Amino acid sequence: MKFIKTAFAALLLLSAFTAMAKTEKKIEILPYPTSVEFIKGSDFKASGAQFYMDPALDSISRLAVARLADKLSSASGKISPVVVGLSVQSRIPSKGFVFVVDKKMAPESYTLAVNGKLALVKASDARGFLYATQTIRQLLPAEIYGKTAVSGLKWTIPALIIEDTPRFGYRGMHLDCSRHFWTVDEVKKYLDIMAVYKLNTFHWHLTDDQGWRVEIKKYPRLTEVGAYRAGTAVKRNFETHDGLVYGGFYTQDQLRDVVAYAKGLGIEVIPEIDLPGHMLGVLAAYPELGCTGGPYQVWTRWGVSDDVLCPGKGQMFTFLQDVFDELCEIFPSKYIHIGGDECPKERWKNCPDCQRLIKELGIVSDSTHTAEMYLQNYVTMEVQKYLSGKGRKIIGWDEILEGKLGEGATVMAWRRDAACIKSTGLGFPTILTPMSYCYFDFYQSDNEGRKEEPYGIGGELPVEKVYSFEPADVVTDPESQKHILGVQANLWTEYIATNDHLEYMLLPRLAALSEVQWSPKGSKDIERLKSSLEKHFRIYEIMGYKANHRIQGKPGLPGAQFLGE
Ligand code: ACM
Ligand code: ZN
Repeated sequence: MKFIKTAFAALLLLSAFTAMAKTEKKIEILPYPTSVEFIKGSDFKASGAQFYMDPALDSISRLAVARLADKLSSASGKISPVVVGLSVQSRIPSKGFVFVVDKKMAPESYTLAVNGKLALVKASDARGFLYATQTIRQLLPAEIYGKTAVSGLKWTIPALIIEDTPRFGYRGMHLDCSRHFWTVDEVKKYLDIMAVYKLNTFHWHLTDDQGWRVEIKKYPRLTEVGAYRAGTAVKRNFETHDGLVYGGFYTQDQLRDVVAYAKGLGIEVIPEIDLPGHMLGVLAAYPELGCTGGPYQVWTRWGVSDDVLCPGKGQMFTFLQDVFDELCEIFPSKYIHIGGDECPKERWKNCPDCQRLIKELGIVSDSTHTAEMYLQNYVTMEVQKYLSGKGRKIIGWDEILEGKLGEGATVMAWRRDAACIKSTGLGFPTILTPMSYCYFDFYQSDNEGRKEEPYGIGGELPVEKVYSFEPADVVTDPESQKHILGVQANLWTEYIATNDHLEYMLLPRLAALSEVQWSPKGSKDIERLKSSLEKHFRIYEIMGYKANHRIQGKPGLPGAQFLGE
């Protein structure tokens, strides 16, 4: 009998250890923190715990903490009081959630130390506190992301110490609002899920051949004419369209509202005015800005148009300056994205004005570039000069490297690995967004699997492949690696017309991307990702997002309009 008792006790002990190991595995934070150490001690009871804030917290951090307290109160059904202390040193409580400023900490970083009584957060800036609140949420049941009280859940956090700091300073996600238009509420929902994954930059693609989306008061036809197209191509039948007028734009007030909303989530919004190509939205409204004078139409099809802005006509520069004057009043971002991709030179070759400008500037072609390529380079430099005078830096797609790019420009390298290598090799700050890993308009499964998927642009980019992206494997030279500013994924929306489909393309790939952007090199673990995603799928459901469930063996988007190829 004694033996049985001892064996039973040993078994209990063993199962306790197993349970502990299981608990450790159940840390489902994405992106995974820099370091997680489990320490001895009982769990911290979060429900009903007081939230104390050091008065040195700024208003964004305070709101983030208050939001967490509010969520916890409503999901757990127990009120968590929020207190802002009066003096930093003398009155820091020894129990509950405590948030204190530690100016010695690096930007965007935080620590979270939890024992049976106390959950102590330290950070030096708003992003640090915002990210700590996201981590705390992910340590709690997924229901914290909901709006209603749920009974029977364990609102506890194990004793642990988390130290967390991002690998890259630029962690971006892009959204194409021209090919299909997304309402302010849809954009905010997009930002909400970016915030869950600690991204800090929203690249807003606001203009393209298929619609201009920004109110510019000096040029009302941009939104009266340029924001609407006569119809939309169905699948890849570009010669016809569905005949349904399609469009929309954001007023300046709406744009400001989004900028402020993003700021509250620690996200900077970088607007993109794609120039000098991808400009049919402008040309349809102001045909005098093109080489031929038109007439032009907002495009109903996808692809790359030969009709682009005409730099040979001086008014193009006046127009761009006017647009950037208004844009810079709306967007306080350090960077303005000026596009620069896919600008065919056909019109410039045959345009007397462009050819005259080439002569005037003394541009001559050489073995590496045509005169027209150098002309685009001239446009880029002129715009850079103008924006620099307004205290802004430019970002451009990697085509801006053609010619001699001005110092201070940042390159967004999209055309596969070679562009990433070239740009960093030349010493330009570079944002890596290679198509093969970062284009979220690609299908998420192979040819067979995509029969279940909504119609897409092509490619194959499953969540596992996004997760496998290692910037240092693409840019292998240590000197060049220093010029990697960060990583971004792009969501072009030619073939994405509904918000459900948009979210389906984004999730869960965004979760995988975040770990590429945030977590230390070498810390990725695909099995951990898969197991963490189980919880994150629940989070999506609670927050009301659609997602691609292929990784759980459940592909497809119920109700999608077109399937497969
Ligand atoms: C791009 O995908 N055209 C930047
Ligand atoms: Zn021209």
